[in-house]
Amino acid sequence: VNLDYAAWLQATPVALDAKAYPFTQAIVWRTGRRVLDTAAAELCQGIAEAFAVEPKVGEAARLAPCRLYLGLPTDLPGFVANQVSAYVQQVCGDGYVIVPIEGGSLAVVGHVDIGCLYGVFHLLRAIRMAQPLTEPIVQSPHNELRMINHWDNADGTIERGYAGKSLFYRSNTVQFDPVRVRDYARLLASVGINAIAVNNVNVHRVETQFVTDAYLPSLARLADLFRDYGVRIFLSVNFASPVELGDLATADPLDPEVQAWWNSTADRIYRHIPDFGGFLVKADSEFRPGPFTYGRDHADGANMLARSLKPYGGLVIWRCFVYNCLQDWRDRKTDRARAAFDHFVPLDGRFDDNVLLQIKNGPMDFQVREPVSPLFGGLARTNQMLELQITQEYTGQQKHVCYLVPQWKEILDFDTHACGQGSTVARCVSGALFGCAHGGIAGVVNVGDDLNWTGHSFAQANLYGFGRLCWDPSLSVETITDEWVRLTYGDDQDVVSALAYILLASWRTYEDYTAPLGVGWMVNPGHHYGPNVDGYEYSKWGTYHFSDCHGIGVDRTIATGTGYTGQYHEPNRSMYENLETCPDELLLFFHHVPYTHRLRSGKTVIQHIYDTHFGGVEAVEQMRRMWAELADKVDPERHHAVRTRLDVQLQDAIEWRDVINTYFYRKSGIPDRQGRTIF
Ligand code: GCU
Repeated sequence: VNLDYAAWLQATPVALDAKAYPFTQAIVWRTGRRVLDTAAAELCQGIAEAFAVEPKVGEAARLAPCRLYLGLPTDLPGFVANQVSAYVQQVCGDGYVIVPIEGGSLAVVGHVDIGCLYGVFHLLRAIRMAQPLTEPIVQSPHNELRMINHWDNADGTIERGYAGKSLFYRSNTVQFDPVRVRDYARLLASVGINAIAVNNVNVHRVETQFVTDAYLPSLARLADLFRDYGVRIFLSVNFASPVELGDLATADPLDPEVQAWWNSTADRIYRHIPDFGGFLVKADSEFRPGPFTYGRDHADGANMLARSLKPYGGLVIWRCFVYNCLQDWRDRKTDRARAAFDHFVPLDGRFDDNVLLQIKNGPMDFQVREPVSPLFGGLARTNQMLELQITQEYTGQQKHVCYLVPQWKEILDFDTHACGQGSTVARCVSGALFGCAHGGIAGVVNVGDDLNWTGHSFAQANLYGFGRLCWDPSLSVETITDEWVRLTYGDDQDVVSALAYILLASWRTYEDYTAPLGVGWMVNPGHHYGPNVDGYEYSKWGTYHFSDCHGIGVDRTIATGTGYTGQYHEPNRSMYENLETCPDELLLFFHHVPYTHRLRSGKTVIQHIYDTHFGGVEAVEQMRRMWAELADKVDPERHHAVRTRLDVQLQDAIEWRDVINTYFYRKSGIPDRQGRTIF
């Protein structure tokens, strides 16, 4: 067995015996509802794995001295319902309560069945982590939509996928192993994910047909597997579908025939998939078609689609990753970082109530370090979602350890100051700050058909942490990390502390040996792996660092640059605008400075570059040593697999270090103060 397959739902027995949790002897629920039956089955399985005793069910369960009651308030016997009702009233959406009942019983209760399932996963996690269950637990999700985006293509490839082929498609057909998909749905639900877009945002010729009868029956079978775990499916759609499928001469969103075409398309989809979530749309972005072709704007386009879904309760998730990807590198005035804000802020308030704008965390594109997109806080009358990248496109492609939960936490905690202090990104996207009807977080997922799901075993921690943060962005990085490590690799103290150390150091380490101080983009074009300082410097993608013999960085100030800093509210605007207050780690994102510029840390920029690049490689060496020391404490298969990847990481970190250091030494002519080897 590959232990990685079970991920954080390991089947190992726990140290405690079942007597510590007397309610595990019997489970009482009302059978016949799919999600609740799933919840009960998970509970039986989880208890059997943990304690090696099967809980009683059915009539036998009702006679047991202590019981676990599972269900909605209306499913419960009166005396249980009475004891939980005060807590259940505090629950919102698909949340749940876990409440001790007199006499050693326990109740797991939600307003909807899926809430009960989440409660079960919480309970099993608590048992695995030996947490006491003596006080009532009341949990509501902070975000309505907790969503996974698959960039899977019908031919089985995955755009920016680093863990094998698609779980859903082969040879231009929907083809999947139902057991595998079910296990995947289970993993997602166990961390609270409730929505999934099953195909790439770049909708090519074949995937354009997903909305037709040629594909809907098989997609409906896929949706059915996710349904048991409360995960609703969405489709990425091609804005030009009416034209590309050969039905109409135009896709103009204001043309009534186009509206009628989408209306009947929505109707067809819902006949196959009654709980269909809606559309995810990449339009007028990187050569994808969109409303601009017809002189219309994004609100016209999104609202037209939204009206087709409205009668069925569907949503349109419209991406804001819109910029000019045919820029002239000689043009220093155009700034790609400004684009999303410039396109969408003028449309604030014009979107229908079942449209959400999906906004990437940063203004560029999932770099290892970027400021938070100023669209958060810039849109006050529009439903919005945060888009994160779980797949490690620019962060080591799952060959390197790069645990992104600390990055995501910084993003969610960032204060936009849109409505004064405390206007965090977490509150913008949940809808709480502006009172929006819908909100949530989406992540471009890192899984494929590799037996361990994510290629690198430690990349599972990103998927886990993503789900946990969607549910509750106020969880601490340490809590999430501790949960993942112990659930996945067990409780041995040496393993727990070494793994937590490695994970928590990894993002900073990756940043240290790659592009410095927020400048980004020093990667090989196309596949985005490995160092290439000028790889994008003379390209059309709007991704430059402007290094010369004097200095480096992009001047995005109002005073002398592109004016991007003006898209932030005060005090962020001034903080970024002024060299004295701009955080070091983002300095080169906002300013062009001489190599001798002194950072707030006291070091010069050039010395910082050298120090972090040498230090980054040393940090990888240390991770490798720490992992090697765990050889006797981790199963050989996982130990070996991770060691192999750490070897690759070290080798490639050395390459990064030497290329970057050499480049800047040659550009600046300034030697390393410590005289280390630079080529
Ligand atoms: C990045 C990524 C592409 C992707 C695009 C997007 O540019 O490299 O593969 O299609 O983002 O998010 O749409």
